[in-house]
Amino acid sequence: MPCECRERADLSLIADQIEKAKSAPGSLIPVLQAAQEAYGWLSPALLATVAQALEIPPAKVLGVASFYSQFRLSPVGKHLILLCQGTACHVNGSKGLEEEISAFLKIKDGETTADGLFTLKNVACLGCCSLSPVMMLNGEVHGNLTKEKVRKILEQLTVDG
Ligand code: FES
Repeated sequence: MPCECRERADLSLIADQIEKAKSAPGSLIPVLQAAQEAYGWLSPALLATVAQALEIPPAKVLGVASFYSQFRLSPVGKHLILLCQGTACHVNGSKGLEEEISAFLKIKDGETTADGLFTLKNVACLGCCSLSPVMMLNGEVHGNLTKEKVRKILEQLTVDG
């Protein structure tokens, strides 16, 4: 991804965090978290504007954003599926769930459906192994999943849009 983006993004939704970060060096990560929360993903223009606002080299901001898997550098669908591939979930069938989701939505890990409705992302342990296998859908944990349960959830969301 180019880091010399000349476009500038509107940061008004995170203006408070930017102001706080200016007086507290080292708070780039919380700013990026707030930006992702507010805008859904971190576009090149947004990263460049954050760099400018905090007077940090753009390459450093891009480096931090690309290093941490929590940050999304491409747009996500309306429904974000974070499918746990941690050890407990793996043992309890997360690969089968991934196959089911991929077959139903016709996307692979990291991809978004053509209609922009769903994004699938494999992640490491979500911290609720006793419910494995687990996925987080739009921030909500769904546990003890089976292929049938997953398909039902996706079918419902497809109907609801
Ligand atoms: S391994 Fe999936 S929640 Fe811990």
